[in-house]
Amino acid sequence: MFITLEGPDGSGKTSQLPALKEFLQDAGYEVVLTREPGGTPVGNQIREVLMNLKNVSITPRTEILLFLAARAQHVEELIRPALAAGKIVLCDRFGDSTLAYQGFGHQIDLDTLQMLLDFSTGGLKPDLTLLVDVPVEVGMERKRVNSTEWNRLDAYTLAFHERVRQGYFALAEAEPARWVIIDATKDKDSVQKALQTAVTSRLGGG
Ligand code: TYD
Repeated sequence: MFITLEGPDGSGKTSQLPALKEFLQDAGYEVVLTREPGGTPVGNQIREVLMNLKNVSITPRTEILLFLAARAQHVEELIRPALAAGKIVLCDRFGDSTLAYQGFGHQIDLDTLQMLLDFSTGGLKPDLTLLVDVPVEVGMERKRVNSTEWNRLDAYTLAFHERVRQGYFALAEAEPARWVIIDATKDKDSVQKALQTAVTSRLGGG
């Protein structure tokens, strides 16, 4: 089963993943925890390029192709083999991040993006996507307080991040069977419980 976590910056999803992995392992599943951009040696090198504050000249098209290049490598090298071996793959961000950030955020044509996305993934789609949602101001404040570094992609405006969040809602509405929206303004333990409940019910339902 392929499970992805999505959400606006500062939603706290990344910090929830180790506990969710442990919960699934305790239930007897083999779990691979990975993230985007990254997840493979080549993907992590591409991540460096994307995050580097010095790379101010990256254009929106270049940015898209770098995210997708990292994803193509990730799918072939790590995700598909793990799924074929019967493991649960838990992935911190995936294709929906491209639609939300580059599509809704940077307002790149969604049909074109979807076509490029399908090429990069070979058509692989998550079985379950957990949207770890917080209002933009809450997310930005959490990032300011908690993160040691401020990367190139954090520097976009509030309006951009608001479009990203609304984009996620639109994606979830378009495919309600795949998405579960988790209210991440609650405390950490409640959010973890909600994630576990969503995953358990999906696993139970086949
Ligand atoms: P990261 O530091 O991993 O942030 P987070 O903890 O919020 O996931 O940075 C990932 C950033 O890259 C984040 O701002 C979202 C952005 N992103 C895209 O714009 N498009 C994509 O396809 C992906 C995978 C990420």
